[in-house]
Amino acid sequence: MFPFLLVFLLSFSWKTNASTQPVEQFLHCLSLRSGNSSITKLVYTRHNSSYSSVLNSSAQNFRFITPSSPTPLAIITPLRPSHVQATVYCCRKHGLQLRTRSGGHDFEGLSYSATSCNVPFVVIDLANLRSVRVDVEKAAAWVESGATIGELYYEIARKSATLAFPAGIGHTIGIGGHLSGGGYGSIFRKYGLAADNVIDSRLIDVRGRILDRKSMGEDLFWAIRGGGGGSFGIVLAWKLKLVPVPANLTACSVTKTLEQNATELVHRWQSIGHILPKEVHMSFAISRANSSVDGTMTVQASFGSVFLGNINELIPLMEEKFPELGLSKQDCFEMSWAESILYSALFTTGLPLETLLNRTQVSPLSKLFFKAKSDFVKRPGTRIRRIVAQVLRGRYFDPKYRKYFDPK
Ligand SMILES: Cc1cc2nc3c(=O)[nH]c(=O)nc-3n(C[C@H](O)[C@H](O)[C@H](O)COP(=O)(O)OP(=O)(O)OC[C@H]3O[C@@H](n4cnc5c(N)ncnc54)[C@H](O)[C@@H]3O)c2cc1C
Ligand SMILES: *[C@@H]1O[C@H](CO)[C@@H](O)[C@H](O)[C@H]1NC(C)=O
Ligand SMILES: *[C@@H]1O[C@H](CO)[C@@H](O)[C@H](O)[C@H]1NC(C)=O
Ligand SMILES: *[C@@H]1O[C@H](CO)[C@@H](O)[C@H](O)[C@H]1NC(C)=O
Ligand SMILES: *[C@@H]1O[C@H](CO)[C@@H](O)[C@H](O)[C@H]1NC(C)=O
Ligand SMILES: *[C@@H]1O[C@H](CO)[C@@H](O)[C@H](O)[C@H]1NC(C)=O
Ligand SMILES: *[C@@H]1O[C@H](CO)[C@@H](O)[C@H](O)[C@H]1NC(C)=O
Ligand SMILES: *[C@@H]1O[C@H](CO)[C@@H](O)[C@H](O)[C@H]1NC(C)=O
Repeated sequence: MFPFLLVFLLSFSWKTNASTQPVEQFLHCLSLRSGNSSITKLVYTRHNSSYSSVLNSSAQNFRFITPSSPTPLAIITPLRPSHVQATVYCCRKHGLQLRTRSGGHDFEGLSYSATSCNVPFVVIDLANLRSVRVDVEKAAAWVESGATIGELYYEIARKSATLAFPAGIGHTIGIGGHLSGGGYGSIFRKYGLAADNVIDSRLIDVRGRILDRKSMGEDLFWAIRGGGGGSFGIVLAWKLKLVPVPANLTACSVTKTLEQNATELVHRWQSIGHILPKEVHMSFAISRANSSVDGTMTVQASFGSVFLGNINELIPLMEEKFPELGLSKQDCFEMSWAESILYSALFTTGLPLETLLNRTQVSPLSKLFFKAKSDFVKRPGTRIRRIVAQVLRGRYFDPKYRKYFDPK
């Protein structure tokens, strides 16, 4: 009886300590390590009134900020690299997991949540480390991880009408996670992934050292450009190679419903999308829509394209390579590269370029409950047919469309 009671008391007192002590020890460690107690002004714990709004600020997937989601013991918002170094050191010392957040667009919320409520963790949010320096003469830029790709694009466009960086479309995406995983967008057929155009970086490793390309070595430098964020250290900043674009390019959009042969066009696209000249990027998105014929539900495919050239070159090119689409001048606009990013993301022209700076701008897949997954299709096949069928099925399945999805 007696030893049993003792064990019970010990485990009880261990539990109460576990809920308060690690965070206090961690904060104490941060002050000591940074040699400056004002670092606590950059730390939000559950006791701070703005904890929840800071945690939610860049969380894009509402699945990971429900009231039952695991939350961090603390969120650190560093202003200087030394704050990041101190955080790495103190997390290790106190056995806390560290989650790094740049733009918070991780599909599975890995930058601000944990898979279990039993794993104490700390979020380091790099939103304050977001300077962008563009060198037009050298066609290069240094960008800190906490910047969004929109902030990078805006600064490039402000300095030059004919330089660009090949990265994603959604302008609220963070540089840190995006470059760590690859990053593709509307000029990647010509210039490759964002990660392919990184020429140097500054990384904080698990020992808190700041390394550049030379001191980290080519293996690690290779790994951090595509190996996935959160795996090899915290990247503070990246040096990028900028690429040439015409002062005006062409962006087009054309939408076809099932009745307008959307299924055939999607199939055709699979055979020719990748053999079009590298200056053309064409993609499509499938969604439900009202049928123009009788107002019942149908499926539509919206084909968006960006061409590094002008309308008068693009139209004959598409007439030759993809006549079935029937792309016409009315479907296209000439605009700068930076404007084409906004057009591709938000489907409107004439928005001020400053929209690129809006870190809370809502776009498809942002600030929603969603499940998303990227995949590769290696040969034209039935997989897209199945996806179209699922879009249509939803709650709106109409048997009259079944003929479009004959499984053979
Ligand atoms: C609305 C939306 C649009 C998108 N559009 C595109 C697109 O057009 N093209 C495309 O290629 N992808 C696109 N994506 C996917 C996006 O590129 C990835 O989700 C990317 O990882 C997001 O980076 P982040 O910094 O915003 O994310 P975060 O959630 O901050 O980070 C993602 C991962 O990287 C880690 N990480 C973050 N910062 C660092 C750092 N500094 N050092 C080391 N690790 C770090 C995190 O811990 C996490 O594991 C889109 C996603 C969304 C939600
Ligand atoms: C401590 O940090 C504050 C705020 O970041 C800064 O203003 C101050 O100069 C720092 N003090 C020392 C001694 O580094
Ligand atoms: C959070 O609260 C603590 C304790 O009241 C305070 O020292 C700290 O400055 C607060 N953090 C922020 C970011 O306001
Ligand atoms: C953050 O999101 C959670 C979950 O959606 C919500 O309960 C909470 O009120 C939000 N906090 C703020 C400050 O908006
Ligand atoms: C759909 O394609 C068929 C041939 O595959 C063609 O005969 C028909 O005119 C097309 N319909 C439309 C609306 O383009
Ligand atoms: C279809 O039309 C109805 C009625 O006009 C509208 O409420 C609904 O939002 C439309 N749906 C789509 C997907 O456009
Ligand atoms: C770009 O195209 C727009 C619209 O056609 C035109 O008004 C503008 O002058 C063009 N700019 C350049 C630099 O060619
Ligand atoms: C950013 O976009 C959101 C909506 O997407 C809007 O509510 C907000 O006013 C915008 N902010 C600025 C500074 O324009």
